[in-house]
Amino acid sequence: MINIPKGTKDVLPDGSYKWQYIEETARGVARVFNLSEIRTPTFEYTELFKRGVGESTDVVNKEMYTFEDKGGRSITLKPEGTASAARLFIENGLASSPMPVKTFYITPAFRYERPQAGRLREFHQFGIEVFGSDSYQTDAEVIFAASAFLDKLGVKTKLEINSIGCKVCRAEYNRALKEYFKSNLSQMCETCRSRFEKNPLRILDCKEERCKKITVSAPSIIDFLCEDCSEHFEGVKALLDNQGLEYTVNPRIVRGLDYYSKTVFEFVSDAIGAQGTVCGGGRYDGLIAELGGSPLPAIGFAAGVERLMLLMENTGVKFPEKQKVRIYIAGMDEKTRAKAFEIATELRLKGISAEIDHLNRSVKAQFKYADKLGAEYVAVIGENELLSGEINIKNMSDGTQTAVKFGQIETYLK
Ligand code: HAM
Repeated sequence: MINIPKGTKDVLPDGSYKWQYIEETARGVARVFNLSEIRTPTFEYTELFKRGVGESTDVVNKEMYTFEDKGGRSITLKPEGTASAARLFIENGLASSPMPVKTFYITPAFRYERPQAGRLREFHQFGIEVFGSDSYQTDAEVIFAASAFLDKLGVKTKLEINSIGCKVCRAEYNRALKEYFKSNLSQMCETCRSRFEKNPLRILDCKEERCKKITVSAPSIIDFLCEDCSEHFEGVKALLDNQGLEYTVNPRIVRGLDYYSKTVFEFVSDAIGAQGTVCGGGRYDGLIAELGGSPLPAIGFAAGVERLMLLMENTGVKFPEKQKVRIYIAGMDEKTRAKAFEIATELRLKGISAEIDHLNRSVKAQFKYADKLGAEYVAVIGENELLSGEINIKNMSDGTQTAVKFGQIETYLK
């Protein structure tokens, strides 16, 4: 037998309704926030992620599924959705649309990571990206959209926010970080030693215990924000405060991708083990220009569907019940089975879910099968029913039976 690749998951027939529920909830939130769906390819040119996500990130450095195609081009399965969304925006000239351009997507993403609970090699993200507004109000709106989505699903998380400043104040902060890390370099991991030169901010995101210890007393970005970034951050916080959305400012949040500027945020839970971030995002005002477009601010987030599902299961959040079969129609012989087939087809065409036997089962076995399907109603067609043009429909929840004319079944069930 050939098994499923490590770090991937099947969605089984009796579990797919949970996926549909999360996706429908996402679409519902997107609708009320006026976000339009975009779809981008599963793979992109590798260069997009190197430039967009950044070469000093683990995602690009260690985790990409990259291969050469038959034409000799370097291709990468997308490790996230933002770089692709930005490419779509630039390539399709969306900069000439009325601003902001508000988008969302539900996409698979691929990262070659060590699989564990909540961490897969193929996973799925519901993400939103809003292009063309530098107002702090947009930051707050995006955070509210994430919060509304999590609330609708009924999951409990904590919101943590931070600002990592702009190019100007970050340069200042990076200098301070370098000064701080300088004397500890020899005790840090190899990756962090290389980050020290390229992007010292990234050291704050290191998962190695020895590096984490050193970062504890590192200077805080908040103390280095320029006036513009500081005002922006205050504006975001004021809007969250006004609406009573609880959060904590965590100056340690730097996010694992290089494109961020100003506001960054994460919704975290301690109920799903080490991979506690169910949703993360932030502003990325430099990305569009980095990828060759005219400079344009943007902000977004992505929530991991599998992590959400894990959180829902671990904390006993109820999914709505799987849709049941409305009516099961049993036949006994060739003629009555043909009639069952005919009625089921008519009902299906009218939008009512109906099921029949496919395996020549006895009537008793068909009742058992209908029960397994959770059919709400069951009807048996025999010789008498064919003659009278009427069937007894049994309500499976209370056992009552009602005689209904063949032509009236739809009305009865509605
Ligand atoms: P990210 O924090 O790398 O951000 O990923 C967003 C979410 O995807 C995480 O919070 C987590 O729920 C889920 N996720 C990430 N990696 C895995 C994995 N290996 N297995 C399962 N779930 C995972 C981004 O991807 C940004 N593009 C978000 C964004 C959008 N920022 C601005 N716009």
